[in-house]
Amino acid sequence: MTDLQDHPLISDRMAKLRSVDCPPQDFRRHVADIARLLVLPVTANFKTDDISVTTPLTTMTGRKIARPIVLVPILRAGLGLSEAFLQMLPEANVAHYGMARNEETLQPEIYLERFPDDVSKSEVIILDPMLATGGSAVAAVDGLKKRGAKHLHFVCVVASPEGLQSLEASHPDVPVTTAVVDDGLNEKGYIVPGLGDAGDRIFGTL
Ligand code: PRP
Ligand code: URA
Repeated sequence: MTDLQDHPLISDRMAKLRSVDCPPQDFRRHVADIARLLVLPVTANFKTDDISVTTPLTTMTGRKIARPIVLVPILRAGLGLSEAFLQMLPEANVAHYGMARNEETLQPEIYLERFPDDVSKSEVIILDPMLATGGSAVAAVDGLKKRGAKHLHFVCVVASPEGLQSLEASHPDVPVTTAVVDDGLNEKGYIVPGLGDAGDRIFGTL
């Protein structure tokens, strides 16, 4: 399932992000703004438990988030989303998945996996601004499912139709929340119109 968040605030930040003239310090800020705007839709169907709350006047039934939350930014570019998510979900643990796409094969190469031992009871939110071929997203979901994750969510800023199709085909149970769906991929596997290499635009070209 794809949840496309078409909202004027998101469109405003997207237009700024896409501009080739947007420097890293502004790019980081606009990505973080979009991340903040995606927190509500991503968490909208989280399971809650009823709790008793004593107000200064009476006692009532409130709700609390039932499951622990684990954020999984895919390094590097996913780090551009994680701080904003953490501000809204301060109780979350942050795991890290280090992956770099081989620019010739377009396959992800994993260089870091740091997860809590047991993620089976957690809401696991994978964060990566770009869903291009879908290789990195599929590999991340594969790895997390192997560790027992059952309640997975994938969040991106720009998705391609090819990436959405690939993730849906491999993991139809994982909902995707995205700010935009672009036209498609070019011959180098970049999303068009896209915003270029998200990692480089967040951290500067290395
Ligand atoms: C980018 C992006 C995704 C991946 C998407 O990361 O952040 O992780 O490419 O492409 P895919 O859907 O075709 O797998 P990259 O590998 O460039 O690493 P970086 O974040 O360190 O720049
Ligand atoms: N990774 C990026 O950072 N940008 C793209 O357009 C595709 C993959």
